[in-house]
Amino acid sequence: MSVDFKKYIASVQNFPNEGIVFRDITPILQDGKLYRAATHELAEYAKSRGAEVIVGPEARGFIVGCPVATELGLGFVPARKPGKLPRETEKASYDLEYGSNSLEMHKDAIKPGQKVVICDDLMATAGTLHATKELVERMGGEVVGAAFYIELPDLKGREKFPDTDIFSLVQME
Ligand code: ADE
Repeated sequence: MSVDFKKYIASVQNFPNEGIVFRDITPILQDGKLYRAATHELAEYAKSRGAEVIVGPEARGFIVGCPVATELGLGFVPARKPGKLPRETEKASYDLEYGSNSLEMHKDAIKPGQKVVICDDLMATAGTLHATKELVERMGGEVVGAAFYIELPDLKGREKFPDTDIFSLVQME
């Protein structure tokens, strides 16, 4: 049975800044059946793309990506905010719908030629995707897909990656 995930996404006006409508996925996470159904859809997608490892950016990418990795019996690689990872890292910076940030991954986290699916909760301007993809590719990995609960098509994130396969459960304005 297919689930209407949109019904379970809370929209919060003017958070974290004036003019932003924040799309909150926590109602999905709070419901075990919904969380499992969302995980399963992303896992089926990652499997169809031939994923060998799942990469998730901090912090909501961990919540979305880790259960996808365990469902498929794959490893999970975190892309973290600066200064959090203990060993040698690669770093990339990015702009967000609001603000900017940097991400780091351990230099040995991805093997050359490894097929990666990036998982996160939401694609807006796709800055986070851009930085995560750049880090994976610097290590010689291949991004075979990116999977999200939510896509905001008005922000045209998808158009920035004409060669990357992108999957989302729901699209919202
Ligand atoms: N990340 C970037 N834009 C967002 C939004 N509108 N809602 C939730 N997370 C976001």
